[in-house]
Amino acid sequence: MKDTDTRHLSWDDWDELRRPAPETTDFDKVVAAAMSRRGFMTGVLAFGSAATALNLMGSTSAQAQTASRFAFTPIDIQTDFTIHVPEGYDWGVLVSWGDPLFSDAAPWDPANGGDAATADRVFGENTDGMELFEIDGKQVIAVNHEYVNEDINLPAAAGESASIVDSAEDAMKLMNLQGVTVMEVAETDTGWAVVVDSPFNRRITHNTPMTLTGPAAGHALLQTTADAAGTTVLGTLNNCGAGKTLWGTYLTCEENFNGYFGATDAAITMPDGFDRYGIAAESRYAYEQYDPRFDITAEPNEANRFGYIVEIDPADPASTPMKRTALGRFKHENAAMTLTADNRVVVYLGDDERGEFLYRYVSSGTYTEGGDTSTLLDDGTLYVAQFAADGTGQWLPLTPETTGMDDLAMVCIHTRQAASAVGATTMDRPEWVAVSTTLPEAYCCLTNNSKRATDAVNAGGDAMLAEDGTPNPRAGNEYGQIVRWRPTDTDHGTDTFAWDLYVMAGNPDVHDDAYAGSVNVTPGNMFNSPDGMQVDSTGMIWIQTDGDDSNEGEFAGMGNNQMLIGDPETGEIARFLTGPNGSEVTGLTWSADKKTAFVGIQHPGGDFPNASPVPRSSVVWVRRQDGAAIG
Ligand code: FEO
Ligand code: CA
Ligand code: CA
Repeated sequence: MKDTDTRHLSWDDWDELRRPAPETTDFDKVVAAAMSRRGFMTGVLAFGSAATALNLMGSTSAQAQTASRFAFTPIDIQTDFTIHVPEGYDWGVLVSWGDPLFSDAAPWDPANGGDAATADRVFGENTDGMELFEIDGKQVIAVNHEYVNEDINLPAAAGESASIVDSAEDAMKLMNLQGVTVMEVAETDTGWAVVVDSPFNRRITHNTPMTLTGPAAGHALLQTTADAAGTTVLGTLNNCGAGKTLWGTYLTCEENFNGYFGATDAAITMPDGFDRYGIAAESRYAYEQYDPRFDITAEPNEANRFGYIVEIDPADPASTPMKRTALGRFKHENAAMTLTADNRVVVYLGDDERGEFLYRYVSSGTYTEGGDTSTLLDDGTLYVAQFAADGTGQWLPLTPETTGMDDLAMVCIHTRQAASAVGATTMDRPEWVAVSTTLPEAYCCLTNNSKRATDAVNAGGDAMLAEDGTPNPRAGNEYGQIVRWRPTDTDHGTDTFAWDLYVMAGNPDVHDDAYAGSVNVTPGNMFNSPDGMQVDSTGMIWIQTDGDDSNEGEFAGMGNNQMLIGDPETGEIARFLTGPNGSEVTGLTWSADKKTAFVGIQHPGGDFPNASPVPRSSVVWVRRQDGAAIG
C-alpha cells in the first residue's frame, strides 16, 4: 500500500517527490536577481502595436496612455472560500462533483463521496478543461475530470482503511469518477443547470473502449495480452486541458498518466523509456493491485497506450473515442487548433513538466468545412519549438531522419526523447496554449519552474539554464510567464516565428528585479502560476492560475487563485474573478450566445460551494446583470 501522506500532493509535487531535481542554489538566485527588469526586457524582441512594444520595452507611460478596453472594474484579491466577480456580474453553480447526470444515479452523499455503484452516472470529480458545443439547437459541454481525492471518496468501512484503495471496488469507484463528462446544459430562471437524462449525457471513464489511430497504432509497443492488435485501449487517464476541433469534436488531453501505473514486483527492470515519463514501481492509486493491466510487471506495454490526445464526438454518445497518436505522447496539457494559410490543420500542444517542450502538429491534408476530417489528426508532422535569444524561433520536425529513431511510430511513442534529440528548448512547464482569434499570434502559459538553474536538467538530461533574454530567464522561477509567438508571414504553417513574453508574473511588492515581473504586472493585478487560458471572440486572453494561494512571503498580495483578462494590444491585465481558497481555477468555455462564461473550480477548500459539508469541485456560470455578451 502506498504512503497516505502523498494523498494531498499536486501531481507535480507527487512526481517531484519521487524524482527530485537539483535544488536551486543561492548563487543562482543572486545571478538572477542581478538582472534588472528593464535589462531583461530589452533583450527581447517586442512586437505588436506600438503600445505593446513600448510596454514590453519598459515604458511606464504606455499603459497609462492607452484607454482600457475592459468592460469591468477589476476586483481585489480575496482569501475566503467563495467566488468573487466584478460589480455588475453574477455567478452561480452549474454542477458539482457527484451531481447525477441520469435520474437512476444516487444523489451525492458527503459521507462517502457518493455511491460507488453509480459513480459512472454522475458528474466526476476535479473538473478541468471544457468546451461547449451547439448540437441540434442544444448546448452540450464536454468537460474533463483530472483526478480524484481518495480521502473523501474512500471513507473507512468494515475491514478497510480510510482513504486507501484496498479493493477492486475502491479502484473502480475512482476509475469511474475520472475521465470525461458530456452533458447537455440549459439556462433557467435562476442560472444554468444540467439537463438530467439528456440523450447527449455521457460518462467516459478509465474503462471506456477507444481506438488507437495514427502512426503508432498497432505498433509492437502498444500490443497487450487483451489487445494483440495494439489498436483498442480501455480508458483515458488524467484528463487535464482540452481543445475543440474546427469540425465540432472535443479533444481531451492525457497529462500525468504515469502515476496510474505500478509494479507488483518492485524489483522489476523498467522498460526502455519509462524513466523519461516518470513511470515507476509506485503508483498513486494502487490500481495495479486490482487490475493487472495497470501492473507493469504483467503488462509492460499498457502504459505506452496513454499520454495522447483523445478525440471525442459529443454529438454521438455511442461513438468510440479516438486516441490520436500522431500528436505525440507526453504529459499533454491542452490542444489549440488553427489553420495554415493553405488550410492545413495546426494543433499547438504543451508538455507540462519542468524542462519539457512546446509542440506543433501540422496535418498533411487540408480542412474543408463539411469535408472528410477523419485522417487530419492521423497523417501529419509533429514539430517541437526551439527558441533563440534574439527573439526568433523555429519549429523542428520530428521524423525518423531528424531524430535517428526507427520509424514514425517510435517518434509518436517516445516523443520526449525525439524532441531531445533535435535540441528543443526546455521550457518552464508548458501549460495551456491558445491561438488568438484576432491577431496572427499564439500564447503558452509557462506556469513556473522552481528547479530552473545553471546546473539543472530535465528528466532527459537536457539543460534547464536560466539565461537572460530567453523565454525561461529566471532561476527558481516560482511565478511563471506567458510566451507569445507570431509565425513568419502570419502563417501558422511556416517553420519560423518571432516571440516575446506577453507577461512575466512576479511580485513588485517583494522584489525590484526580474522577480517583480514585467511592467504590466502591478500590485493591483499580480498573480502567480498562469495555467488555464482561452482567447475569447474579441481577442482578449483569459488567464487562470494554479499557484501558491498562501498570500504570504513571495506570494503576499496575490490572494487566492484567480482568473484575469489580458489585452494583447496594450498589455493591460485585470483581475476578473477570484476562486475559493485552496482551489485552482481551470477550464473555461462560453454559452453559444457568449452571454455566459462557464468556469471550472478544481479542488476547492473550506465549504465551497454553498456551505457544503465537504468542498466540491464545480463548474460555475458567470453572467453580466445587463445580459450583454462577456466573451
Ligand atoms: Fe493538469 Fe498541467 O495541469
Ligand atoms: Ca493545468
Ligand atoms: Ca498547474
